[in-house]
Amino acid sequence: MSVRRVLCPGSFDPITNGHVDIIERAAALFDECIVAIFRNAAKAPLFEVRERVELCRQALAHLPNVRVEESDGLLADYARSRGVSALAKGLRVVSDFEYEVQMAHMNKRLAPEVETIFLVARPEHAFLSSSIVKDVARFGGDVSGLVPEPVRRALEAKFR
Ligand code: PNS
Repeated sequence: MSVRRVLCPGSFDPITNGHVDIIERAAALFDECIVAIFRNAAKAPLFEVRERVELCRQALAHLPNVRVEESDGLLADYARSRGVSALAKGLRVVSDFEYEVQMAHMNKRLAPEVETIFLVARPEHAFLSSSIVKDVARFGGDVSGLVPEPVRRALEAKFR
């Protein structure tokens, strides 16, 4: 029987508890789950890619069928090269929908054999984003409970 593999792509700058929840749920539906860290051309990152990879690895160490990688290119090409059958994305609020559906259509055009599946964020994560977490941390606010502990420490070190 062939291995069923899912890809959870994102910029993860940094990974939040909302991301962890979506990845846990996607990983439970498939044999293998690849978390791929991409550069988002529209965003100037706080963390270098290698820092984001390390933080994701620490935050996801409890999930044996998850591995973390980085990529520079087109998501559709990467999905193909890894033989994934689906891309899993989280949906929080209606504003996510427009952006995510646009990307899903383009990815389907580029790699028709790869499906995009959406998992609805838990209500407690509906307003949680990497951007808002960075903004709170930048001004010394408490982000514990919103991000994994290694991320909280990394944010504290960044803004010390
Ligand atoms: O976490 P983000 O920033 O919302 O993730 C967006 C991401 C990285 C998934 C998207 O920017 C992406 O797919 N980048 C790779 C380049 C690509 O394939 N762009 C076309 C997407 S249709």
